[in-house]
Amino acid sequence: MPVMALISSYTASALKDAATSLRSGNLVAFPTETVYGLGVDATNKAAVAHLYQVKGRPSDHPLIVHISSMANLDKWAREIPEYAIKLARAFWPGPMTLILPRTNLAKDFITGNQDSVGIRVPSHPLAIALLTEFEDQGGLGVAAPSANRFGKVSPTTVDAVVEELSGYLSPTDLILDGGPCEVGVESTILNCTQDLPEILRPGAITAKMINELIGLQVNQIATGSNKSTVKAPGLLQSHYAPKAKVFLSTKPNLGDGFIALSDVSTPPGAIRLASPKNNKEYAQLLYQALRLADTKQLPNVIVIPPTGDDLAFAICDRLEKCAYKS
Ligand code: TXA
Ligand code: MG
Repeated sequence: MPVMALISSYTASALKDAATSLRSGNLVAFPTETVYGLGVDATNKAAVAHLYQVKGRPSDHPLIVHISSMANLDKWAREIPEYAIKLARAFWPGPMTLILPRTNLAKDFITGNQDSVGIRVPSHPLAIALLTEFEDQGGLGVAAPSANRFGKVSPTTVDAVVEELSGYLSPTDLILDGGPCEVGVESTILNCTQDLPEILRPGAITAKMINELIGLQVNQIATGSNKSTVKAPGLLQSHYAPKAKVFLSTKPNLGDGFIALSDVSTPPGAIRLASPKNNKEYAQLLYQALRLADTKQLPNVIVIPPTGDDLAFAICDRLEKCAYKS
């Protein structure tokens, strides 16, 4: 039973209270277009320590700072390359995080002791409204990891947030309900600390979209490799996993869960968990389907990954990370 308040009607006064709560050092889970985030004032060391405790996350894992618009970018980042400005103008608000050299505002407790900081302007109207109100009250940025316990599947619905965190949040913390997330997988993370951008985590803003915009060849760090010059803990090892064992492209046994595009029929004896019609819907439904496997207490889930150079890349990246490694 959650002890913190769950807010699902967004009057101006409810948003104002949520922003005030953040300014007072409390945690506020809120929807973004990718996944739900667990927000905290990015300049409040004690509150950030509380956030790491609630998430059960190692303190060297850096957090993404969320701001309401590009206008606030240079408060947090410096030496911003021209290509990063172009990307921000084109894809913000939206599912893209830029890793940039930090200013003095971005302390070690946000960056995991690195000299860079991750920044994002989310597009969910509720996220923007909350960030705007927070900044109106004097706040500078909201650090928000995905609102799940460390290593678990990111929540894409408010029920999933409650399931993940209600046992860990305090009565003064809040959860804002903004409905199911539109994208469903986490933002594209781009390392912008060098001459050429480098994708550290694929997402809805794809390598192709980036190449077309900036006319530079963006490097894509292969899943499982560790070649990047910036440390991105949490991106390369096993992650995003449900309790059920996930197997890719194998034959299900009786009672195994099954996830595939709708044109793939369910093998006999398997339990269908999602039938997305296309890759966009696949990304939207994937984490909910993995959670459903745990709700149904299924031992195994067989997933047929999508193909293509669109969101399929991000989906396959997450699937490879959550796949069972014997
Ligand atoms: O879509 C998203 O990005 C969601 C929503 C809530 O905005 N947030 C999210 O945050 O996925 P989180 O903390 O679960 O994942 C952020 C990843 C971490 O794996 C972290 O290592 C990486 O971003 N990261 C953050 N700052 C970084 C930095 N300065 N250098 C390298 N990696 C960084
Ligand atoms: Mg996460």
